[in-house]
Amino acid sequence: MADKSQRSDVTLDTIVSLCKRRGIIFPGSEIYGGLQGTFDYGPIGAELKRNVKDAWWRSMVQERFDIEGVDTCVLLHPSVWKASGHVENFTDPLCDSLGPSRKRYRADHIEETECSLYRIADVTDGEPKPVEGAEIWAPAKKKAKEFYQTWWEKHLGLEGRRVKLEEVEGSATTGRFSPDDGGRLTDPRMFNLMLSTALGPVEDSSARVFLRPETAQGIFIAYETARAAARRKLPFGLAQQGKSFRNEITPRNFIFRTREFEQMEMEFFCKPEEFCRNGERTDMEWFDYWRNSRLDWYVRYGIDRDHLKFYDHPKEKLSHYSRGTTDIEYLYPIGWQELEGIAHRGNYDLSQHMEHSGRDLRYFDPQVEQHYVPYVIEPAAGTDRAVLAFLCDAYREEVVTRGDEGKESRRVVLGLHNDLAPIKAAVLPLLQNRPDLVEMARKLAADLKRHTNAVYDDTGAIGKLYRRQDEIGTPYCITVDVDSLEDQAVTVRHRDTMEQERIGADRIVGWVREHLSA
Ligand code: GAP
Repeated sequence: MADKSQRSDVTLDTIVSLCKRRGIIFPGSEIYGGLQGTFDYGPIGAELKRNVKDAWWRSMVQERFDIEGVDTCVLLHPSVWKASGHVENFTDPLCDSLGPSRKRYRADHIEETECSLYRIADVTDGEPKPVEGAEIWAPAKKKAKEFYQTWWEKHLGLEGRRVKLEEVEGSATTGRFSPDDGGRLTDPRMFNLMLSTALGPVEDSSARVFLRPETAQGIFIAYETARAAARRKLPFGLAQQGKSFRNEITPRNFIFRTREFEQMEMEFFCKPEEFCRNGERTDMEWFDYWRNSRLDWYVRYGIDRDHLKFYDHPKEKLSHYSRGTTDIEYLYPIGWQELEGIAHRGNYDLSQHMEHSGRDLRYFDPQVEQHYVPYVIEPAAGTDRAVLAFLCDAYREEVVTRGDEGKESRRVVLGLHNDLAPIKAAVLPLLQNRPDLVEMARKLAADLKRHTNAVYDDTGAIGKLYRRQDEIGTPYCITVDVDSLEDQAVTVRHRDTMEQERIGADRIVGWVREHLSA
């Protein structure tokens, strides 16, 4: 596999602007100026996200004999987060710029660099006068000037003045500096990422509860009840989808890192190797199985295999309880980043909840006639990161040639997998001012809607309507023209090839259903 490290075919800005233009995904609370780290999904985005979730649920629950679905609460008993270690350890190192931006950073996202201190002198009146309070740290004078012009000039009230920037001799040092304004960064302090709220009418500390930062813990605490209800033996899994909340210090890169997001997690409870019999898969074999199975899922739904890779966490960096963690990374336009994590969590979570709740969560294995705490393999995917990956991989721009003169135009296409496409078929009458044509098209759309997500659109010329559907990934456009009234046939246009074929109107529902499931 070619280990590319950059995408040249699509930028994040392109995806953001497509999403904004078509109302697919846009900033949350937009009419109030936005709320950082939150995004709303519009009609097309909501369908796309639902389809991603449905595809995951189908492959993780519906198509399997060994996994059940659950739907647990966002608000959990405060002890859950003590037991899971989130109260103590779910932290990021945070530091602040001492420069005028006062921006906050995750210390682990900012590398130590060599910088020198630059002082500012006001030379407007000839004689250089030092300016108090300017502490610009920059790797070079050019950069210091940039920082000056974007932050310091205004902050120091120097607009319209002539200034000189001088490097302070002997100031060169290594440390962490703001990449935005050249301010020195404070020492890191630990910042807990859990968001909290208060339950009940009195907002004292006893009412404080956390909004879940992962869906996984809800599964662990429901484990025994769900297992008994489903009469399950090991190995088996419990899957869940839902919102999670993290007070990310630096939410960024569109829906890649947000403060409110969705997860699709599955906890697979299995036997520790010493209790396996007769060729049963061991815990490490299940770990391997889920790594591969999850990567295959993304490929199955259209992601280029070359845009996916495994990142195995080095042994020395694993949590004490973990026997292995692998990230599935995707080549986003911002570079290789985590799309999903697969972790071998050993028996840590169930053991912790046993200790903190006093409930016996051990499994009685009739084969070996012993009680033990199952091991857990956890594939944990981010729904929004998956949506972003599917959008980036499906996006393409094409030059199309039309007519005898070979007139060229550009089209944007989302080549989404049929299962993920928000709208499956669009019915378009060629002429809006012919009631008989409109009536036939509307009837066709209504017939299709009983089976799939179809739309009717007569708000523009046919070429424009095709482009609109291409841009949101609709696989089939069905045109009703004047001939349709005579021959009772319609034209189906394929999104990817733009090929057209004539199909009997009475066969169209079957044709679309057949092609969607092909
Ligand atoms: N239960 C394990 C767990 O939550 P994680 O690696 O912290 O593991 C799993 O999260 C997945 O959730 C990530 O791989 C990512 O896709 C998604 N995710 C995590 N934080 C996110 C955020 N702030 N915004 C969007 N997605 C996020």
